[in-house]
Amino acid sequence: MTQSIQDPFTKAQAPLLIQEVGPRDGFQIEAAFIPTVDKIALIDALSLCGLAKIEATSFTSPKAIPALADADEVLRGIRRQPGVVYTVLVPNLRGAERALAAGADELNLVMSTSETHNLLNLRMSREQSAGRLLEVVALTQGTQVALNVSLSTAFGCPMEGAVPEAVVLAYAQRFLEAGVRGITLCDTTGMANPRQVRALCEAFIGRFPGAELTLHLHNTRGMGLANALAGVEAGVQRFDASLGGLGGCPYAPGATGNVCTEDLVHMLQAMGYEVAVDLPRLLAAARSLPALLGHDVPGQVLHAGRSQDLHPIPASLTEIRARAEA
Ligand code: COA
Ligand code: ZN
Repeated sequence: MTQSIQDPFTKAQAPLLIQEVGPRDGFQIEAAFIPTVDKIALIDALSLCGLAKIEATSFTSPKAIPALADADEVLRGIRRQPGVVYTVLVPNLRGAERALAAGADELNLVMSTSETHNLLNLRMSREQSAGRLLEVVALTQGTQVALNVSLSTAFGCPMEGAVPEAVVLAYAQRFLEAGVRGITLCDTTGMANPRQVRALCEAFIGRFPGAELTLHLHNTRGMGLANALAGVEAGVQRFDASLGGLGGCPYAPGATGNVCTEDLVHMLQAMGYEVAVDLPRLLAAARSLPALLGHDVPGQVLHAGRSQDLHPIPASLTEIRARAEA
């Protein structure tokens, strides 16, 4: 189905929902282990920012992702705010059992739509992964926990190249038919371009209008914000993003950070979109990152300030003006 290009300002649109993934996608690749109390404090600060969802951690093998080996303590230790959904990444049944025991609101099940990336990242074939994830769906039947499936490399695999749209949509359909509420289309290594994002999101929405669709973008090649806007124009309401622009995938060569939460919120609010995120509070949380991580972060609004934060007029202007008027 093709949709005519609509001006985003005239398109009646529900509020856009921002989902923070920094504590998972960002922290998973940090070289130095971030103390559990600091992870909890950052999530607690993020919980007060108006975000719709926070991916707090991942219940993966601690051998695969040692940076998040404290998932149980983190999820149990945070102060939950009403209205925020606390989700966690889960690759298999063992992860699901741990996440349920620790009280996750949502399980974000993960597999890759590229065979090569799935083998490297999850050490099994796509079919084996799909099977494991469907076991989790069966396990949670009759419980209150929500289910989302993140389809990695949906816009391209760094080793295989293009991933056919039909493959991505077929996996989405399989999980939706099994009862999963949401699907996330992930541009794991920032290969997507805005035209491609628009096309895949429109195809998805046309085929699965009732599904909760999230767009998960990385800014690896500087296309992150343009891709997000293409998603907005295609009708996507939910966006994953990472505070400070942290993030990456340990099994994707050259992967860098997610689209930066505060940069995304800043752009969308400046354009007049309804986004219920408290940007000054979000920036305050982002400002704490360099000290916490021991390195700078790529977020740009953090460095430049918001577009409405005007600079004081330099004292030299009086002299320049006088000369210009002489
Ligand atoms: N939580 C905790 N431990 C787990 C686990 C989980 N979800 N899944 C497996 N393990 C443990 C097993 O108990 C086993 O432990 P042991 O060696 O002490 O007996 C060990 O991990 C190996 O288990 P196995 O089932 O053989 O897993 P594997 O080595 O084939 O790895 C995954 C498969 C999926 C568990 C692992 O590759 C993984 O966690 N990947 C996550 C990658 C990721 O998060 N990438 C970034 C996000 S896209
Ligand atoms: Zn990611």
